[in-house]
Amino acid sequence: MRIDILTVVPELLDSPLNQSIMKRAQQAGLVEIVVHNIRDYATDKHRQVDDYPFGGEAGMVMKIEPIFILINKLKAEREYDEIIYTSPDGETLNQQAVNHLSTKRNIMILCGHYKGIDHRIREHLITREISIGDYVLTGGELAAAIITDSVVRVIPGAIGDEASALTDSFQDNLLAPPIYTRPAEFNGWKVPAVLLSGNFKEIEKWQESQSLERTELLRPDLLEK
Ligand code: ADE
Repeated sequence: MRIDILTVVPELLDSPLNQSIMKRAQQAGLVEIVVHNIRDYATDKHRQVDDYPFGGEAGMVMKIEPIFILINKLKAEREYDEIIYTSPDGETLNQQAVNHLSTKRNIMILCGHYKGIDHRIREHLITREISIGDYVLTGGELAAAIITDSVVRVIPGAIGDEASALTDSFQDNLLAPPIYTRPAEFNGWKVPAVLLSGNFKEIEKWQESQSLERTELLRPDLLEK
């Protein structure tokens, strides 16, 4: 899979995409993540990527030309399954959308900045708008990092234990059961005895009932889905 991220602040994406599991997944060839600086495609001598909005509101708007040139350059090189724009207006990201995106071959993510992008880009070039929640960030870069991180970690082989992405919270609209590690007792706080029993049938039963109980308690909305 290949993910191209288009931004005016590429530095914001350096660290989240180049550590730990994201770094290993790229080194293992499971995903290629390419960050592009939109400013490199500016057409005027000041390398301007934003301009004042028509209509005279406050804030600046990302200009069409550099984004148009960059998107078309990439589209000429390969076919893209989705060209995503990160925006609070978009569909809210959830695990189902993440799983679906992880099956794609090439996706592009355009990060909004300033007041947003010229609306004609959204109308003519973008295939999908994704929000990471009902709040507003200073730019779409952190949203792009979140989309990328969540998509890469469900690519088979990205996390060590292949089964483990499937047992995450939300994979079946249930929260994950509590987990523990050694010591079995700390400060008088004990790990549930069933987990130490070695009886895998009982352990599985306990985990399923815990999942259900925690979902009912903390996220009853998930059970209605
Ligand atoms: N850009 C600004 N706020 C955002 C959000 N909530 N989701 C995605 N992109 C954004």
